[in-house]
Amino acid sequence: MQDVKGKVAFITGGANGIGFGMAQAFTAAGMKVVIADIRRDHLDRALEQLRKEGRTVHGIQLDVTDRKAMAAAADECERVFGKVHVVCNNAGINWFGPMEEATYEDWDWIMGVNLNGVINGLVTFIPRLKAHGEGGHIVNTASMASFVSGPGAGIYTGAKFAVRGISECLWYHLAPQGIGVSILCPGLVKSYIYQSEQIRPAQFAHTGQAPSEEFTRRLEEVHQVGMEPLEVGEKVLRGIRRADMYILSHPDHKEEVRQVFAEIMTAFPDETPEPRRMAFEDFRRQQKAEARNKGDAALGRA
Ligand SMILES: NC(=O)c1ccc[n+]([C@@H]2O[C@H](COP(=O)([O-])OP(=O)(O)OC[C@H]3O[C@@H](n4cnc5c(N)ncnc54)[C@H](O)[C@@H]3O)[C@@H](O)[C@H]2O)c1
Repeated sequence: MQDVKGKVAFITGGANGIGFGMAQAFTAAGMKVVIADIRRDHLDRALEQLRKEGRTVHGIQLDVTDRKAMAAAADECERVFGKVHVVCNNAGINWFGPMEEATYEDWDWIMGVNLNGVINGLVTFIPRLKAHGEGGHIVNTASMASFVSGPGAGIYTGAKFAVRGISECLWYHLAPQGIGVSILCPGLVKSYIYQSEQIRPAQFAHTGQAPSEEFTRRLEEVHQVGMEPLEVGEKVLRGIRRADMYILSHPDHKEEVRQVFAEIMTAFPDETPEPRRMAFEDFRRQQKAEARNKGDAALGRA
């Protein structure tokens, strides 16, 4: 989507961090932006800053796990600014701990926001993007944790792998219709995500392993050296303009990702594939290539 001026973007988790960086970058390019966030105080602070800079913004307090509220937010966007062209499903929380000790509450909270929040954004907005027929773009915020794993953030990683898989498949459905889909996979960003426990809802409070103050302080320090959110936001805008499927903001994980794929490649058995199975796989691959070609053409990708 080359021409973004005057277009409307909806960004979840837009009051802070990466979402706020996107709001800054998009409005600087002349877009009208709706930021939606669960934190009213942070939303007000973000709106004040953006308005001071003369940006065209509107704020909606929203919990992305609430489907009715998501639909109401979409109606509000259209009422305030008109048709929505760019949807950024970005709201997220983090959680660290030994996943084998996680409670249902831990799973439901993290999956609820980081995965279901994205799904709710998709189910709500895709019909609206298709209905106006002017094309558009969806950015789903995953993470480098959608490629690399390790001990410590298992549930988060599971949600992010899922966001990546969903988004890749969605590209093949939507790109041929002129709607791009990008998977944003940042590394460390200077954000408030270390404060996630502060917004854990009461019904998900039952956990044997709330982070210690010391751990949260360490996490805060770590995030101070993260990439500036505005830089990420500018890279997202470039990705939307170029219709990139992947937006990788950080160079930090290149070697690690190479190792992940190298390990997967070495796991393939050194055997001759069964021809009838291969005929099916070739058929499937051909369908994918056709969707890819149509998508590339519709999005103006080389
Ligand atoms: N900061 C990083 O290092 C990093 C790295 C990779 C990926 N990410 C991802 O980037 C996204 C944005 O995170 P961030 O780092 O900017 O964090 P952040 O905490 O600064 O911003 C996230 C925003 O989402 C909001 N939010 C949380 N739960 C919500 C809910 N249920 N409904 C609506 N809003 C909600 C928070 O209030 C906050 O304003 C997340 O999906 C996160 O997983 C962050």
